[in-house]
Amino acid sequence: MAKRYLIETFGCQMNFHDSERMAGLLEAAGFELAGTSAEADVIVLNTCTVRERAEDKVYSRIGELRHAAAAEGRQPVLAVTGCLAQQEGSVIFRKSPFVDVVVGTQAEKRLPMLVAEAGLTGSRQIDINPYDDVSFPLGMTQRADAVKAYVTIIEGCNDFCAFCVVPYTRGHERMRPKADILAEVAEAARTGRREIQLLGQIVNHYQAPDDTGCDFAGLLAAVDQVPGVERIRFASPHPRHVTPRLIDAIGALPHVCKHIHLPVQSGSTRVLAAMRRRHTREEFLALVQQLKAGVPGIQLSTDIIVGFPGETDEDFAETFSLVDAVGFHSIFSFKYSERPNTLAAKRLADDVPEDEKTRRLTALQARQTEIQQALHGQAVGREVEVLVDSISRRRETELSGRTTGNTVVNFPGRPELLGALAQVRIERAGAHSLWGRLTDTTPA
Ligand code: 5AD
Ligand code: SF4
Repeated sequence: MAKRYLIETFGCQMNFHDSERMAGLLEAAGFELAGTSAEADVIVLNTCTVRERAEDKVYSRIGELRHAAAAEGRQPVLAVTGCLAQQEGSVIFRKSPFVDVVVGTQAEKRLPMLVAEAGLTGSRQIDINPYDDVSFPLGMTQRADAVKAYVTIIEGCNDFCAFCVVPYTRGHERMRPKADILAEVAEAARTGRREIQLLGQIVNHYQAPDDTGCDFAGLLAAVDQVPGVERIRFASPHPRHVTPRLIDAIGALPHVCKHIHLPVQSGSTRVLAAMRRRHTREEFLALVQQLKAGVPGIQLSTDIIVGFPGETDEDFAETFSLVDAVGFHSIFSFKYSERPNTLAAKRLADDVPEDEKTRRLTALQARQTEIQQALHGQAVGREVEVLVDSISRRRETELSGRTTGNTVVNFPGRPELLGALAQVRIERAGAHSLWGRLTDTTPA
């Protein structure tokens, strides 16, 4: 009988996509997907270290798996991959003797071999070498989503924002050839994926290594022409690299969604400088104006950190007022968490007390909920186009999808509409999504 594998993923879209790739590699090596971790001969934990909590979650999951396996008398091969593997290396073996394999972020292609080796010999295997190769066999990715496809365009990051662990866990920035990206986009579209999500740590820093002069806007234009691609999204751009060319591309290219997730991190120029973001509050606000003018109706979302070292009440008030001024359709907000190796960890004291971080986060999120409720309320009575991306697990007649601006819309409809563009009249708005009904114009 074929050996069975299961992958559990923590962290960001990049990690989810890496898991889809590793699933493909394991299947090509003859493994089959297991239904539960109790049935798996190989368990892969694809991990995240972006905040301390993410890291803690991994170690507690390793503990749970160890206890379950001991209670059931099983000895699965346990592999830890991704950012924690890269950050900790062999320290993981010391902290968790139950782990058999450690594979870093740049060595994922070696996973099947190392798992097989560990299974055969019973000895621990590790590879955290910084391989520069960014190729991946075409068609091997086991895509988890029938409608949307992730496509990596840049790996790693050279930016060294003071809070961020990513340059240490994912290595220096490497661009994939445009030809490889377009081949993967075409393959995703051919297998029914209507939406392409381009991924990179600083996705808009893209420069094609195989096509001099082709920047991120140029790549968007090329992806826009691939037959079958209905929508294009990307994550995450850095404000510093949003060029007029890119704004024009978002506005003009028919398949590029009218939404941008633009991490600002703080609304205080002083804190932005300490974070090494290399733009000011005013520059960010000016950029938002250019985006709104260049792409009418564009919706924005962002990431914000509260309680960065040295953040005063006044600094936080600047973040609060920036959120008010921009009117983001959603924000992801986090309490600052000190990360190993980073400039902030080396040079700055984590001096905002935990309860103050909590107070700032709660206040920001409460304000943002009001803003979202008001923005969503404006959609009531309007007709929107939605790419249907999921069917409710509870009721098969309830569908959900997203508008071009990335707002979630729920509505009654037949499951066959999955993957279709539907016209929905909005009847009700909540802080996190909209509800509506199909109009007569949606093709049956
Ligand atoms: N502490 C808190 N949040 C962080 N992020 C990145 N590093 C940290 C950290 N050390 C947040 C940033 C980033 C998002 C992915 O996670 O807002 O944009
Ligand atoms: Fe993604 Fe960063 Fe977490 Fe790594 S540490 S999985 S790059 S969010």
